[in-house]
Amino acid sequence: MRHTREEGIQKLKKELNAVILVHSYQRGEVQDIGDYVGDSLGLCIEASKTDAEVIVFCGVHFMAESAKLINPGKTVIIPDYNAGCPMADMASGDELRKLKAEHPEALVVCYVNSTAEVKAESDICCTSSNAIQVVESLPEDKEIIFVPDKYLGGYTAHQTGREMILWQGYCPTHQKILPEDIRKRREEYPDGVVLVHPECSAPVIQEADQVGSTGFIVNFCTESDKKIFIIGTEHGIIHRLKKLNPDKAFIPVTERALCPNMKLTTLSSVLRSMERLETKVEIAPEVAERAYKPVERMLALSGQGVNRK
Ligand code: 13P
Ligand code: SF4
Repeated sequence: MRHTREEGIQKLKKELNAVILVHSYQRGEVQDIGDYVGDSLGLCIEASKTDAEVIVFCGVHFMAESAKLINPGKTVIIPDYNAGCPMADMASGDELRKLKAEHPEALVVCYVNSTAEVKAESDICCTSSNAIQVVESLPEDKEIIFVPDKYLGGYTAHQTGREMILWQGYCPTHQKILPEDIRKRREEYPDGVVLVHPECSAPVIQEADQVGSTGFIVNFCTESDKKIFIIGTEHGIIHRLKKLNPDKAFIPVTERALCPNMKLTTLSSVLRSMERLETKVEIAPEVAERAYKPVERMLALSGQGVNRK
């Protein structure tokens, strides 16, 4: 009997004792086979709680790498190894070491959208949902380097009143969202609530009603009694929003905000990767030990004790 791809994935999931973790920018068909769909922080927390032996990570490379840092003894596979994050690739360990040498007293906060090498040079990690809390947890007399997202860093500096040395990285997908796109949508939908991700530029953030991570956007829209939402982040989230809120309307600020890397994963690549147990995420042990520390500190701030497996 021929199985559909979904049936094949479910069968392998049992055989492998696997869990499928999915970021909310993934294609709708991939979100629909996920055991957990969420934002970067939620995915890290799920990875830290799972008893599964194999983690199938449908997202981009740094997310799967974070799951591996938390679970060095488990098999973590990423269905398409080319699914990287251009913003994470805008900072290298070498460059960060140079900047640290110029500011020897500074603490380094790394956005989770970073390579393991960069995490290994950092003091504490953050995601877009806890950046403010992470920065507020640091001693007031300390200089802070924030790497690699200049927009999330700038927004966090503004919200916390802390001066920070900002790495000049950015997300090419969120960069495509423009303030004039929001103004146009407000004219079309005067009752619409505008929500944007903090990876957007400062002028875009200024136009918004709410700013937050993908998890925040999903929770806000689901709990709100408003009916129309104008969404300023990657397009894949619209699938999740509509699925959870079939009676509400979700309008993207712009159709241009598509992350090509997030779209590389398909049902076929998930099935193939589970059949072949490919591609395994591997991190050199000496890098992994140092890179795990900032992630552990971040999870501890979220009240999340980790039983590293
Ligand atoms: P979230 O932490 O909001 O899921 O964002 C991850 C990301 O890559 C945004 O571009
Ligand atoms: Fe990276 Fe931007 Fe894609 Fe998120 S949306 S994975 S930050 S390129």
